Amino acid sequence: MRSLIKLKGNGIPRTIKSNVIQSPLAGVTDNIFRKLVRRWSSDSLLFTEMVNATSLKLGHGNEKINQISCEDGPVGVQIFDNRPFAVAEAARESESAGAFLIDINMGCPVKKIAKKGGGSALINDPELAVDLVKRISKAVKIPVTVKTRIGWSKYDQSIKDFMLKLQDAGANMLTIHGRTREQGFSGKADWQIIGELKELLEIPVIANGDIRNGEDAKECLRITKADGVMIGRGLLGAPWIVGEIEASINGDKTFKRPTFIDKLMLINEHLESLLEEKGDHGLLIARKHISWTCKDFPKANSLRKKLIRTNCPKEVKELILKAISDLNN
Ligand SMILES: Cc1cc2nc3c(=O)[nH]c(=O)nc-3n(C[C@H](O)[C@H](O)[C@H](O)COP(=O)(O)O)c2cc1C
Repeated sequence: MRSLIKLKGNGIPRTIKSNVIQSPLAGVTDNIFRKLVRRWSSDSLLFTEMVNATSLKLGHGNEKINQISCEDGPVGVQIFDNRPFAVAEAARESESAGAFLIDINMGCPVKKIAKKGGGSALINDPELAVDLVKRISKAVKIPVTVKTRIGWSKYDQSIKDFMLKLQDAGANMLTIHGRTREQGFSGKADWQIIGELKELLEIPVIANGDIRNGEDAKECLRITKADGVMIGRGLLGAPWIVGEIEASINGDKTFKRPTFIDKLMLINEHLESLLEEKGDHGLLIARKHISWTCKDFPKANSLRKKLIRTNCPKEVKELILKAISDLNN
C-alpha cells in the first residue's frame, strides 16, 4: 500500500499521496520540466523553483506561480525572502494561484541570498524564522512547510531547538537536507542525523540529500524513518527519476526506464516546448538539459558536443532526429 503524508494545514488539510517528492531546483523545475516529471508520477508533490517575494510583488515572478493553475497534480510554491509581510503576501498570491502548499526556503546556501538574511541565514535567526512561519500560517489556509539543513556550521542542540520552534510556530512539514550550510553540497548527506531529528518532531519529515535511485531511497527511509524522500540533483537530465524511485519503493515492477531513443525524443520534446514558450532564448535553456540527458548511449558524447554548439534551433532538431533514425537502424 502506498504511504500517505497527511498535512494539517490552517483550515485546508492536504494529503500527499506519494512519499517521493521533487525538490525545488532554481533554473530547472519550471512548468515545462514539471510537466515531464508529472508524466512518470501522477501523485508526487512537485515544487516550483524558489520564488522571491519581492519579484512576485513587482510582477517578475508571477509567471512562475500562475502556471501552476493549469497543471495536473499537487505543486508547492517555494518562497525565499526574510520579510514576513512580503512573504505572507506572496503566500496569499500563491494560494490563489492554486498552490498545494507553501514552502519557505531556510536552507539555500547561496551567499547573495543568505547575505540578505534569506535561505540558510534564517537558521541563525530563529526569531525571524518563527515569525515568518506564524505570519504565513495566518495568511493562508493551505499547509505551510519549511525546507532547511541540519545546521549552519555544525549539527548541535541549536538546530534541534530551531526545528522544534518551527513546529510550534505552525510549520506543517519539514524537509531536511542532511548537510550543514557550511558544507554546501560537499561531503555526504547525513541520514543518521535526519533520523534523530525525525524522532524529535511530531510533524512529517522529508529526508533530502544524495538520493539518486530506488536503493538509496529505501536505505534512507530505513535509516531516517522519514515520512518521505525528496530528490534533487538526481532529476537533472532525468525527469522520470521520481516515478522510477516511487515504483522501486512500492515494488512496482512495471516501470520502464526510458530507452536511448526515448531520451532523444524527450530532448526534442523539451526543446520544442521551450522554443514555443520562450522563443529562441529557449535554446539556451535547452542546452543545459541536453547536456544532462544526452549521455549513456552510443555516440552520446559526440552528439552532445554538436547539440550544445549549434546555434540554430532548426539544426539542433535535425541533429536529434538524425540521431534517432541512426539508433533505429
Ligand atoms: C541547480 C540546483 C538548484 C537548486 N535550487 C533550489 C531551490 O530553488 N530551493 C531549494 O530549497 N533548494 C534548491 N536546491 C537544493 C536541492 O533542492 C536539494 O536540497 C539539494 O540538491 C540536495 O539534494 P540532492 O542531493 O538530492 O541533490 C538546488 C540545488 C541545485 C543543484
